[in-house]
Amino acid sequence: MKEIVLRADEKANGSLILVNRSHPLPASETGPACLLPVIQSYPDILLEAKAATLLGRLLDACGSGGQIVPVSGYRTHAYQETLYADSLKENGEDFTRQYVAWPGCSEHETGLAIDLGLADGEIDFIRPDFPNEGVCAVFRKLAAEYGFIERYKAGKERITGISPEEWHFRYVGCPHATVMVERNLCLEEYIDLLHTHIGPKNVLETTFKGQRFAVFWLPAENAYFSLPDEALYLSSGDNAGGFVVTVWESVR
Ligand code: DAL
Ligand code: ZN
Repeated sequence: MKEIVLRADEKANGSLILVNRSHPLPASETGPACLLPVIQSYPDILLEAKAATLLGRLLDACGSGGQIVPVSGYRTHAYQETLYADSLKENGEDFTRQYVAWPGCSEHETGLAIDLGLADGEIDFIRPDFPNEGVCAVFRKLAAEYGFIERYKAGKERITGISPEEWHFRYVGCPHATVMVERNLCLEEYIDLLHTHIGPKNVLETTFKGQRFAVFWLPAENAYFSLPDEALYLSSGDNAGGFVVTVWESVR
């Protein structure tokens, strides 16, 4: 068996971190270590490396062929501050609170969120058009398979604090995106659910592409567990007090 100890200072890192008004990013976070462009023709629109790679594959899989364009990816904290202040001036407080996250509370500062628009004339930067038809509908259908979720869905506004944003997708990774879609859970609800699966004896079981996974949660102050030497696992902080551990079930 191998003993694994997760470092408490990593609890705001990883693809499952929850970032919202009540879960701000720690001020010490400086953004992802490696950022990449999603599409070479938009070299300034960056995502965390794994999210960028999978988004590129997802766009290829839905045959976007340039019809879907990246509008906004990674934003620095300073940029989110400017965006918020500019929107307040231009659009007022109601609109801004609905569609622009408070600086420090934006997923865009993690490099795991992307706004996408349909390349069809002028693109609105804050609310790009991403209809539920054509290539955008194909994108939505395939997104979870590549680890992406539509983050701010209609009906979840009271939980997320943000109005429906059909254009904002968040990388959470596999198999998590599929579980969230199947159970109609937003990220806040999914993290709450995982908080009830504490430790390797109380897992959430799921299957993705024929592979079984066991998912469990550990509080940051008690974040250690053991697995067989050959077991494969991934861990992510949740920015909500602990870590999510994902184990490839067949070798657990
Ligand atoms: N538009 C989303 C909520 C953001 O500003 O992060
Ligand atoms: Zn966005």
